[in-house]
Order: sequence, then structure tokens, then C-alpha cells
Amino acid sequence: MKTEAQSPFDRLLEKALEENVALSLPEIARLLRAAEGEEETKLFQSAYQMKTRHVGRVVRLRGIVELGNVCSKDCFYCGIRRSNAKMHRYTMSEEEIVETALLGELFHYGSVVLQGGERSDAAFVDLIEGALQKIRNRSEGRLGITLSLGEQTPETYRRWFAAGAHRYLLRIESSSPELYARIHPSDHSYAKRRRALDDIRAAGFQVGTGVMSCLPGQTIEDLARDIAFFRDLDCDMIGMGPYIPHRDTPLGQLAESNLLTDSERLSAGLRMIAVTRLVLRDVNIASTTALQALAPDGRERGLLAGGNVVMPNLSAVSHRGDYLLYQNKPGTDENAGESRQALLASVERIGECIEPDAWGDSPHFGRRKGRQ
Ligand code: 5AD
Repeated sequence: MKTEAQSPFDRLLEKALEENVALSLPEIARLLRAAEGEEETKLFQSAYQMKTRHVGRVVRLRGIVELGNVCSKDCFYCGIRRSNAKMHRYTMSEEEIVETALLGELFHYGSVVLQGGERSDAAFVDLIEGALQKIRNRSEGRLGITLSLGEQTPETYRRWFAAGAHRYLLRIESSSPELYARIHPSDHSYAKRRRALDDIRAAGFQVGTGVMSCLPGQTIEDLARDIAFFRDLDCDMIGMGPYIPHRDTPLGQLAESNLLTDSERLSAGLRMIAVTRLVLRDVNIASTTALQALAPDGRERGLLAGGNVVMPNLSAVSHRGDYLLYQNKPGTDENAGESRQALLASVERIGECIEPDAWGDSPHFGRRKGRQ
């Protein structure tokens, strides 16, 4: 029988696949540095093995409602930042939010995400609270509801939880306070964002966070620490993607922001998913739209590298062109039904299945609740 000598990288992957090991920061960084070709392929295969073991070959769906692009934040990388005067601003009415979310039930997605620019004025807090109550009542509690609406007060989190939402996504963007400070204006605070994650959990939500890769000045060590940050936070869900420049933003105009090719960005995004799967194991990890912006099959590749959640867009075509966080965002000309068809085709292509009408909580959440 032919036996191939095992490389140190192979041994590291084997170690990562053992139960009850906690990889060190240098080990996490080494995995992220997988050489193009064989090492990278083996990394993705190992992550897929871990995914199969802990969350199965089932794609979890969350229909996204992009409910508004008015934003009080001015993040240097984001197309809907408040200083981008070129952006046409919109906010859906309560009725439109509710009707769009309920399409998610019609499509058997099981779960929806209400996402939008960050606003904390009283009218907005009331709008979301009212919409949540109606979605919960009209779907008779069958539709899972995630919020992705930025930093809010503990009181607002509690109100929105009481109104029917049960998961909250707030990306830390980078767990390095220095890098965070470089990509945000001085009125944004890393400490405040970090505290918001604790407030979200205290309000009762399942907590999701994430980061961008490929940020100018970001190192592999920064990304390794991001993954350790997710582990320390004991979070239930992760949404990450490579940074993609947007020309009408300060970061997008910096030459050093534009150095990487699409395929380099895609590879970085896939490695982050794979290593996060190996380290966090039983959480839900999104294969995000940013991957699809970089390659037509980016979303499938994210699932094959360890992701298990896809977020098809439910918003009307009339709003899609206005919700451009980055350039070349895909799906801006398709309606919700077409997004659904494209998604089902992706899932089928990679031989996975969906579980219709399921909330699809991560097994990690069930275990964490069991420990409490
Ligand atoms: N490229 C990639 N992701 C971006 N986001 C915002 N702007 C960009 C960009 N230019 C991400 C941020 C934010 C999420 C809603 O979108 O991580 O949390």
C-alpha cells in the first residue's frame, strides 16, 4: 500500500479535526496561510468534514429584507455611509417591511433578517417594534426573525426582543481596536461596539458577529485574532466577507485598498470561513453575498468551504440598486422569486439540501442554552 508522508500542515489539519482541541493563535494563522493549491484544497475539505459532522449538509436560509439605507454612521468603507450624497435614500413603511418579510414565509425560508442602515431615533425604534409584532402575529410565530440594525441602547434591544426578534447580527468589523480606528471616523468607538455585543446577549438574543478580510493594513495575525475573538465571545452565528472597495467612499479611493484581485479576495474570504468552521465547529456561518460579488459561484464555494447559511434577498427590485454597500453587488436586477430560483439551483449544484420552514438555529445555541 502506498503511504504518503504527512506534512506538518496535514498534521495540523488532523489536529484541528480532533474533538476538544483548542488551536493556538500561531496554528490558526498557519491554517489561514495555506499555500494556494493542495494546502488550500485540503483546508476546505477538512472544514467541509467538520461542517458535515456538526451542522450537516443542510443549507439554512434567511430571507433578507433591506428595509432602509438611511444611516447615521460614516464608516470609511461602506457605500451607504451618511456622507455619500450620491446615494438615494429610502426607508420602507411598516406595511412594506411586513409584506416583504412574509414573502419569506411564502417561500418556505423559515427565517428572515431585517437589515438596514443604523438609526436610533424614536420613530425608527417604533417602526421596527411595530413591524416585528405584526410579522410575529401574521406568521403565528413560525417565521424566525434576525435583526441586523447596528448599535442600539440596551432598552431598544430589549424592546425588539420582546416584540419577536430572537437573533441579532452585529459585526465587530475587526477585533483589532487599532484597525477598527483606522477604518472608522473618530466618533465611532470600538469599546462601544464591543459592549453592544454584550448588551445584545443580555437582552436574550442569539448573537452573531463577523469581520471583513482584505482590509488595507490588515495582517494574517489580525485575522487569526478575529477568529479567536469569535471563540471567546461564544457566539452562535458568524457573517464575514472580504472588503470590496466602493468608489464613493474614502477607503475605496485609497490606492492601497484596491491592490488585490477578485480571486485573491475570494480566496481570503473562503479561508476565513474554513478556519472559522474548524475552530468554532457547531455555529452557523454565512456564505455571504460579498463572495458572490467576486465570482459567479462564490456562494457555492463558501458552502463547500464550511459555510451553512445563505441569505437570499427578499427586497423589491426598486430598492436593490440603493442598497449598495460595495461595487458590483450581485442580484440587483432580479426580483425575490428569481433570487429564490438562483439559490435553489446553487444548493442543488453542490448536492446539499434545505430544510423548508425551519428556524435553523445553530447546534451551538442549543448546547449553550443547555449549559446555562
Ligand atoms: N465591502 C464588504 N463588506 C462591506 N460592508 C460594508 N461595506 C462593505 C464593503 N465595502 C459590510 C460590513 C457591514 C455589513 C452590513 O456589510 O461588514 O457590517
